[in-house]
Amino acid sequence: MTQTAPVAWVTGGTGGIGSAICRELASQGYQVIAGYRNKEKAEGWLAEQHAAGFENIALSGIELDNFEACQAGVNEIRERFGSISVLVNCAGITRDTTLRKMSYEQWREVINCNLDSVFNTCRAVINDMLEHKYGRIVNISSINGRKGQFGQVNYSAAKAGMHGLTMALAQETATKNITVNTLSPGYIATDMIMKIPEEIRESIREAIPVKRYGTPEEIARAVVFLADEKSGFITGANLDINGGQFMG
Ligand code: CAA
Repeated sequence: MTQTAPVAWVTGGTGGIGSAICRELASQGYQVIAGYRNKEKAEGWLAEQHAAGFENIALSGIELDNFEACQAGVNEIRERFGSISVLVNCAGITRDTTLRKMSYEQWREVINCNLDSVFNTCRAVINDMLEHKYGRIVNISSINGRKGQFGQVNYSAAKAGMHGLTMALAQETATKNITVNTLSPGYIATDMIMKIPEEIRESIREAIPVKRYGTPEEIARAVVFLADEKSGFITGANLDINGGQFMG
């Protein structure tokens, strides 16, 4: 098939931050593949995107914590749309509780979804990128991978691990015009932070120097910047976008 538009795969594409990233990439002319977990929710979401004029967004329900499923899913995307040139790892979950109460399942679920998935997706796309001597990988981590967070040993470990992977893979691919970067959002106004008990949430908001949560669009802008062909000298970097809450 002839490749018409560059293909961007956004895992967790139907989520709060993911949706904004998909729309921003679609506006830039990418053929966007939005990853999802819940098919019914995703189909409704896609209809909304199309109604809003983002016709160049499609869905893919690849099971991210399954190595073989990622390989097979990427092959399918290649056949339908062409090789992936931009990968944004945005899928993530929380299972917040203190370590003394955390079950093994709560630990594993978060590590599988937030970190193993990044290995699986990168592994599935990297050979095409190496062959084409071009690629952009943006790993969406978190402020809590940078500073740790009470009640999030699983999430903080996964998000910190993500940046380790970013730095190592950036070195392995630097001569092939592939960049790998981490973007660490702070508290962004999405459903994920609405799960935090209100009192705690409010105290977190108060501690943010700009005194507000970030918006998904503020993250999406930076993703598009890192994904741009002209951003080729930025690799192995971490970009903090957190309203000044953590300056590392
Ligand atoms: N620092 C120190 N002590 C704290 C504390 C903190 N930040 N938060 C709570 N405590 C204290 C409580 O006051 C309480 O003390 P006492 O026992 O003396 O009364 C004790 O710790 C509670 O401990 P428990 O083990 O009983 O914890 P819990 O089950 O009641 O609740 C929690 C723990 C669910 C993790 C709750 O603190 C919480 O939701 N915290 C917010 C976690 C958070 O920020 N998650 C981010 C989600 S959004 C996201 O992850 C996106 C992103 O990338 C930014």
